[in-house]
Amino acid sequence: MSRLSPTNAVPTPARVGLIGFGCVGQGLYNILQQHPEAGFTVTRIAVKNPTKLRPLPANRFEFHADDLLDDPELDLLVEVIDDADEAFRLVGAALRRGRRVATANKAMVARHLPELLELQRDFGGTLLYEAAVCGSIPVIRTIDSYFAQEPLRSVSGIFNGSSNYVLTRMREDGSDYTEALAEAQAQGFAETDPTLDMAAFDPRSKAVILAAHVCGLLLNPDDVLNLGIEHVSSADIRYAAARGQKIKVVATVQLLPGGGATVYVTPQLVPADSPLYAVEREYNGVLVEGEFAGQHFWQGRGAGGHPTGSAVLADLVALRQGSRYTYAKLDASAAVATPADLGLEVYIRNASADLLAALDLAPTSATAHDSAAEYTSGYTRLSQLHQFRDVLRAAGAFVVRTGRVRPVTQPETASLEAVFETE
Ligand code: HSE
Repeated sequence: MSRLSPTNAVPTPARVGLIGFGCVGQGLYNILQQHPEAGFTVTRIAVKNPTKLRPLPANRFEFHADDLLDDPELDLLVEVIDDADEAFRLVGAALRRGRRVATANKAMVARHLPELLELQRDFGGTLLYEAAVCGSIPVIRTIDSYFAQEPLRSVSGIFNGSSNYVLTRMREDGSDYTEALAEAQAQGFAETDPTLDMAAFDPRSKAVILAAHVCGLLLNPDDVLNLGIEHVSSADIRYAAARGQKIKVVATVQLLPGGGATVYVTPQLVPADSPLYAVEREYNGVLVEGEFAGQHFWQGRGAGGHPTGSAVLADLVALRQGSRYTYAKLDASAAVATPADLGLEVYIRNASADLLAALDLAPTSATAHDSAAEYTSGYTRLSQLHQFRDVLRAAGAFVVRTGRVRPVTQPETASLEAVFETE
């Protein structure tokens, strides 16, 4: 048996060009300052606004991010800006130069993954984006690499810290929605436009990215249902609590037994025996179900400068080692080309009779009443919820799934229901 011999050799630090110095950029910078033995030095920082007050001397900053892309002295680039279009322009240009890049921009990756893959193939650069999905939880790399050959049945969970924070505060302290959202913003969890968090656009981007690694599905985010909690009320929180459940925003990537896969994000009633029940505040939780590996559950901080900066650091280490994603499911012949439809059981509050009729709600129980609200429950189709998503939103309706699903093409049976029961 050979023995590893310790070495005292200190590697030359890799030189990092940092584009963006918001919550994540500062988190990463601070981690690298506190942890020099990681072997990375931020040598250039590019930001947009020259007049903004920042916690470092003004001479540390420059204002033309493009200049970093051509700098041969930089070993690695990190893109952590807010603007998804500008992020795509910069990351695209960097990949065209064959550079190694880490990004935390989920909206950009979700919207442009096919082009980003092509650029890497054509020009030999590498893009890693662990920080884009579930903050500090190493979900992308684990699914992409460790589970590369595992047939996965589903990956689901709480992928947005801000909405989970709001739901926790409303339930624990009876906080008002607006007050709880202001706290999530003050703590740096929320996006600059918090609608992205509250209306579930942000977890939708994360689910779209995951779908490529889970089952080889490349989706346009606009084709994926996202319902959020903009219209959640204290009555909804009470309604769930009275049944021993909590409302969580759950994103799901679901492989279907007959073939195909689907992706959706909605509020869901989570029972006490689900691992997601105990995931509170800005934490995220991910449930993975594999054919051979069985069930896994991962929990960790899903938002915030240090947790997300820690994920960028992990990508920097991987880039320095020459690692790239395998995209094994994308290359496999089993890659899923189109998303499938599904029957979802939901409770709906505050939808007109016309809207309920349009959703073709097949009732599963009588209309339920809370002292302050009336709920209609039944099965509808994922495709119908998607079709009427904006109408539901404009009407101020609140939709929450029970977690029960069924195929749309076959009649419901006990055994089929058992197969499809997700949480
Ligand atoms: N706004 C996001 C969230 C940040 O609340 O989860 C992390 O992606």
